[in-house]
Amino acid sequence: MPTPPPAAPPRPLPHLLPALRSDLRAADYSVARAEEVLGPVAVGALRREDPAPARRVLAARTDAFSVLYALFTLGARPPRPALEQALPALTVDGAIALGLVREEADGTVAAQVDLSPYAASDDLGEIRWWIASDLSELATGAPLHPDHVLGVGGASLTLARITPRRRVDSVLDLGCGGGIQAMHASRHARRVVATDLSARALAFAGFTAALNGIEIELREGSLLDPVAGETFDLVVSNPPFVITPRGEESAYTYRDGGRAGDTLLAALLEELPAHLAPGGTAVMLGNWEISTGAAWDEHPRAWFAPAIADGVHAWVVQRDREDPAAYAATWARDGGVTTRDARWEPLIGAWLDDFEARDVEGIGFGYLLLRRPARPTTARLVAEEVHGTGSGTLGAHMGESLDALEHLADLGDEELLASRPVRAEDVVERRHLTPGAWDPMLIELVQGGGLARAVPLSQTLAATVGACDGTLTLGQIISAVCALTDADEAQVRAEETGRLRELVRTGMLQL
Ligand SMILES: C[S@@+](CC[C@H](N)C(=O)[O-])C[C@H]1O[C@@H](n2cnc3c(N)ncnc32)[C@H](O)[C@@H]1O
Repeated sequence: MPTPPPAAPPRPLPHLLPALRSDLRAADYSVARAEEVLGPVAVGALRREDPAPARRVLAARTDAFSVLYALFTLGARPPRPALEQALPALTVDGAIALGLVREEADGTVAAQVDLSPYAASDDLGEIRWWIASDLSELATGAPLHPDHVLGVGGASLTLARITPRRRVDSVLDLGCGGGIQAMHASRHARRVVATDLSARALAFAGFTAALNGIEIELREGSLLDPVAGETFDLVVSNPPFVITPRGEESAYTYRDGGRAGDTLLAALLEELPAHLAPGGTAVMLGNWEISTGAAWDEHPRAWFAPAIADGVHAWVVQRDREDPAAYAATWARDGGVTTRDARWEPLIGAWLDDFEARDVEGIGFGYLLLRRPARPTTARLVAEEVHGTGSGTLGAHMGESLDALEHLADLGDEELLASRPVRAEDVVERRHLTPGAWDPMLIELVQGGGLARAVPLSQTLAATVGACDGTLTLGQIISAVCALTDADEAQVRAEETGRLRELVRTGMLQL
C-alpha cells in the first residue's frame, strides 16, 4: 500500500509563535531534559531506531515535557485535556491553527509534524533549538513518502560539524530541507539564503527559523537557479546525493533529487565555482560511483575540472566506501523496506541492475570542498582517503586546511625550504617493528586532532619533522639530518618536498 502523503507543513503564524515558544520553554523541551527523563537505555534504543523503551518510560508520565515529546516525536495520541495542560499559553486550538496537531474523533490529539529539540555547540557557544519536520517512521510506523522532509539526520550533523564557522557576510545553503545548515550559518553570517526544490521543505525551514527567532531568506528552485548571478562567501550543501535507480518507489526528493546515478553532483559542481566570492568556500557532502577497475576519485576529479579551470582549489575526502549490495540495502532500509518485505528483492535487484548498467563496483562517501583564492592563482586539486572519524568539531580544521592549500599554491619549493615550520602539538610518531629488530618496518605520523590522519613516512622525514620547532629552516634541518645519516641531500629534497607540502596542508606542520 503506498504511503499516504504527509500533512501540510506548519504555518508560522506570528501571533501564535510566542505562545508556543513560551510553552516549550516552560516544559524544558530540550535534548538535556529528554536524556534526563528517558535515561540512557531508552535514549540508546532511540538511537537504534527502537522507540519501545522510550514509549514505556513516557507512558507512565503526565508532565508537560513527556506529553509533548511522546506526541511530537513518537506518535503518541494524548487525550485533549492532557495536551491542554502541556500547552497552557498556546492551547490545543492554537496548536491546530499552527498545523502542529489535529483532533481525532475519539477525543485524542495526533501530531501532524515532528517537533524535536536540538542541541549543539559551536565556537560561539551552546545552541538550543526546536526543529520541525515530517513525522518519522518511528511515529507513523509507515515507510516514508517520496515528498518527506527530513529532520536532523546523521549527514546533517556531519556537514554542520565540518563547516568552518568564521564570520562571513553571505552564506548559501543549497538544498536546505528543514533548514538546519542555514540556521547554523545564521550564527556567523550577516545574510543567509536557503534554497530547495521542495516548497514543503522551504515551508518547514521557514517555520523552524521563525520559531527560533532566526532570519533566513528562502528561495524555491533547482540547484543554483534561485541564485543566478549571485556570489557567496560560504556555500554549504548536504545535497540529495543518494544514487537511486530511476522509476523506483525508493526515489525520495530529500535523498536523490530525481537524477540518475551521481549526475546531480556533476551538475552542481559545474555551476558552483561561479557563485563563490573571492576567498569564498564551499563545503558539501557527496556519494560517487567507482567504476570497475577505476581509481576511487575518477568521478570527483571530473566534477572538479570546471572549478580548477576557473582557478578554484578543490579538495575531496573519501571517508568510506561500500559495495553496491551494501549500498542498496542501506538505502532500502532507510526508506522503510525490510528484508521480510515482498518489495525487498525487486528493489535491491533494481539497484544492482542500475549499478551494473554503468559498471559500478563501489560507492564512495565523503566531503567535497572548494576555495576560490582571494588572489587569482593556479588552482590545485587534492584527493585523499581518510578513514579515521576525528573528534569534536572539525570546521576550524577544514578551514585551516583550505587556508594552507591556498597558501601553498603561491609558495615555491625554495620558499618552503626557507620557512621555519612548527610541528603541531597533536602529532605523534608511531613505529612498527618486527619484535627484536632495531629498524622500524613502518613509521607513521599520527594526528590526534583534525581528521586523525595516519601518514607513512621515511626515517629521514620523521627526523626532519621531529626537529621542526620553528628555530631552523626546513632546508637547514634537511641538511643536518642528511649529514647525520649519510643521505644524499639533493635526492632527499627532491623526494620529500612534496610530502612536506602535504604535512603543511594537513596541519601536521604549521608555517
Ligand atoms: C539530504 S536533504 C538535506 C537537508 C538539510 N540541508 C540537511 O542538511 O539536513 C537534501 C535536500 O535537497 C533538496 N533537493 C532535491 N533536489 C534538489 C534540487 N534539484 N535542487 C535543490 N534542492 C534539491 C531536497 O528537497 C532536500 O531538502
